[in-house]
Amino acid sequence: MKFFVDTADTNEIRDLAATGLLDGVTTNPSLVLKSGKNFIPLIEEICGIVDGPVSAEVAATDYETMWKEADKLRQIADHVAVKVPLTPAGLKVCKKLSDEGTMVNVTLCFSAAQAILAAKAGAAFISPFVGRLDDVGEEGMNLIADIVEIYANYPNFQTEVLVASIRNPMHIVNSAKLGADVITCPPSVIRQLYQHPLTDKGLANFVEDWKKTGQSIL
Ligand code: G3P
Repeated sequence: MKFFVDTADTNEIRDLAATGLLDGVTTNPSLVLKSGKNFIPLIEEICGIVDGPVSAEVAATDYETMWKEADKLRQIADHVAVKVPLTPAGLKVCKKLSDEGTMVNVTLCFSAAQAILAAKAGAAFISPFVGRLDDVGEEGMNLIADIVEIYANYPNFQTEVLVASIRNPMHIVNSAKLGADVITCPPSVIRQLYQHPLTDKGLANFVEDWKKTGQSIL
């Protein structure tokens, strides 16, 4: 399972990249706004930190402008995944980019039907938003189960299931149980994965007992 971080905060990205566990980065217009930085230099900076896919989202909603933006974004680096919305225009851009060998992340997916369209359009990643479905009283993980099952029926679909809008560690564990390819989540949720009170308690005991031995490994 690949771990992407869903942030435009380059300090956080550097910190997580140093763990060696980070496989990529996803951004969106809201995260860019939060960063307070200029978009193009920001994506250039992120691409200099991580070698894996860096999702950079188009801003336009019409095909012509979206295509021009996508063409500009993909020239930033080979590992930019152009992020497009799951709309007719977005999927048209997706198909053209994919045919030309550019990675595309299709975002704002809320149904299995939409995920089928994205796979047919050659998306490298489909981003179903589990947290936002949970927020409106649906079970976000059911969508992941459906997409994973459907994609498995068609080995010619190369699209990876990128679980997005993750709010807690159980979203990640359940995504892994279902065989999702990638998760993207805020830095805070990645850090939560390390936590267990019995780990802290057990380590405190081991440290204490080791001191009592009076020994040193080095
Ligand atoms: O970047 C897409 C997705 O992860 C957004 O998550 O928390 O804004 O629903 P959220």
